[in-house]
Amino acid sequence: MPHLLHLDSSADLDTSRSRAIGQTFVDAWLEADPQNTVTHRDLHRAPLPHLADSSLHWPEHARPEGSNPPAEAVALQAALIEELLTADVVLVGAPLYNYSMPSTLKAWIDHIHVPGITAGDKQPMAGRPAVIISSRGVSYDEGSPTAGWDHAVPALQLILGTSLGMPVTLVSTSLTLAEAVPELADQIERGREELALAHEEAASAGSRLGGMTRLE
Ligand SMILES: Cc1cc2nc3c(=O)[nH]c(=O)nc-3n(C[C@H](O)[C@H](O)[C@H](O)COP(=O)(O)O)c2cc1C
Repeated sequence: MPHLLHLDSSADLDTSRSRAIGQTFVDAWLEADPQNTVTHRDLHRAPLPHLADSSLHWPEHARPEGSNPPAEAVALQAALIEELLTADVVLVGAPLYNYSMPSTLKAWIDHIHVPGITAGDKQPMAGRPAVIISSRGVSYDEGSPTAGWDHAVPALQLILGTSLGMPVTLVSTSLTLAEAVPELADQIERGREELALAHEEAASAGSRLGGMTRLE
């Protein structure tokens, strides 16, 4: 049965939209086949340390001469990569924080993106789907003055898609702050519509991917 690795990184434990939309995906994933499995890693509740040593960006044989990363950091990285490699599908909750991804999610990326092990000429995750749930307080529409200010989704697409070779599905909801910020009041309806659509898209992706047979 397919196995899902589900990452959350929102620092909002009560009203997070990326957490809620991710849960919609997981519900559909489990409904598609109750034998489907899930590992949930909450990067906010249980944050990873920052990458302990730059040499960890490389496989052991390619590390700079004399490098000596701490044993516990080597072990943590190996465990995180193993957890990734056991997943048939990866679901990433990715709120936009200061135009980029939460530092908790970045710490996970820094551990698992290793050319020669997960990326570059070795792409063990190639062909396994990744689903990114993006939630953003305002909007960054094409053609608007703020187009291109979201640096989280493009980086995740590059790393999971281009570097790791995973086909990426993006589910996004923006204007999540419309109901709280008076200047955005005229966009409340659009924010609600985007949220409803994101839940629909997550449910559809969860049942489609949850219904597939295990890749290996
Ligand atoms: C530390 C922090 C930084 C934020 N920076 C941005 C930002 O740069 N752009 C934006 O559109 N919204 C920003 N927001 C708003 C969040 O993207 C928004 O609340 C979103 O819904 C968070 O995802 P969540 O609902 O899953 O928690 C920020 C929120 C926080 C807490």
